[in-house]
Amino acid sequence: MEDTAAVAGTTDAFPRVGGIMHCEGVPLPELVARWGTPLYVYSQGAIRERYRELDDALAPVPHLIAYSVKANGNLGVLRTLAELGAGCDIVSGGELHRALMAGIPAERIVFSGVGKTVHELAAGLRAGIYAFNVESEGELCALSDLACAMGTRAPVALRVNPDIDTPTPHAYTRTGHAATKFGIAAARARALYNIAARMPGIRLRGIDVHIGSQILDVAPFRDALEYVLDLAHDLRQAEVDLEFLDLGGGLGISYEGGARISAAEWAAEIVPAVAETGLKLVVEPGRFLVGESGVLLTRVLYVKEGGGKRFVITDAGMNDLIRPSHYSGWHAVEPVQAPGRERVRVDVVGPICETGDFLALDREMELPKPGELLAIMTVGAYGFSMSSQYNQRPRPAEVMVSGDEATLVRRRETVDDLVAAEMDL
Ligand code: LLP
Repeated sequence: MEDTAAVAGTTDAFPRVGGIMHCEGVPLPELVARWGTPLYVYSQGAIRERYRELDDALAPVPHLIAYSVKANGNLGVLRTLAELGAGCDIVSGGELHRALMAGIPAERIVFSGVGKTVHELAAGLRAGIYAFNVESEGELCALSDLACAMGTRAPVALRVNPDIDTPTPHAYTRTGHAATKFGIAAARARALYNIAARMPGIRLRGIDVHIGSQILDVAPFRDALEYVLDLAHDLRQAEVDLEFLDLGGGLGISYEGGARISAAEWAAEIVPAVAETGLKLVVEPGRFLVGESGVLLTRVLYVKEGGGKRFVITDAGMNDLIRPSHYSGWHAVEPVQAPGRERVRVDVVGPICETGDFLALDREMELPKPGELLAIMTVGAYGFSMSSQYNQRPRPAEVMVSGDEATLVRRRETVDDLVAAEMDL
């Protein structure tokens, strides 16, 4: 089999009807008329479809799809996934709070992250989560002490660092090689499992790896699995009893309308070997489930020329969507209503006072006019969740569409929200 498990990646959740882009059955201009711009819009159908694709692919083994909340923690998104039977992967007390509020049962929650505080560990223990993915000896000791003090045992997987060089589009999203802060060094993993097995506050439950994000190739997953299976085998010999293997997230999607990873082909490489162990498979996808389900709608404010360039200035900026600027992330920019003009080369930039404030550079597109709407595509993951209020800009509203129905799932912030937490001395 080829190493790239690819299928055509574009979702059909944003069709054009009479030249006007829709989300499912709703024309995007209608949403803007109701809720303004910038506006995040998600297709509930697209999220459901992607979840089912993965769930079906994993059907041969007992499994838990622990959606990575950091990709998009909107309660509407979490509720949509909770109803489908998803669990989640959290990395903070804030994400735990959100997940529980959205109705994700504690026994389907795994808690990852290199820097959990004692308060966060305690909140996880109180809630009764499925597992802590522990990333250091210090964290293991702190968790054991805390669990003893609370009269319980903490369910634990050690997140191991398999030292795999993972091809991801940006260095910031590679987490599986030895020089990153993530996980427990491969050379130390066996010894630490043996220590953990004797700790009074720890109940060992699994092994965890997460090698990176936006991976379009099955080979690194196979390498990580091989490492984990080896470790599981050795631990079994040492009579350490395990219940699950967690392969993390990282499944890639299509940003440029090309291929994305196919859940079925990915699972075909992973599932048979996991089935042989009799262990449960946990996965932590974020982007794969929600990335292609979202667009960011923005209005063109001005168009100007200078320095041999043409700038399209929009009312959305790097505070609303930081991926282009922070990871050189490429997002398609589409006119909501295709005007049928000639294509020219432009920079699509935001209103923020930084040269790094752009949504697309050197992009060939039909030159829009001020007042027209653009859709920034494939922003369902790490879009709103990484937004900020930089330059004192209230964050956008978020809308969820299902069929012909649109629901506001987060109202637009106001300038009062921007100062609400401050002490006015
Ligand atoms: N599990 C763990 C432990 C993680 O750290 C992550 C993502 C995931 C699961 C989910 O990964 P996914 O399936 O979404 O690839 N902001 C960056 C991506 C950062 C990913 C961080 N960790 C971006 O916009 O590309």
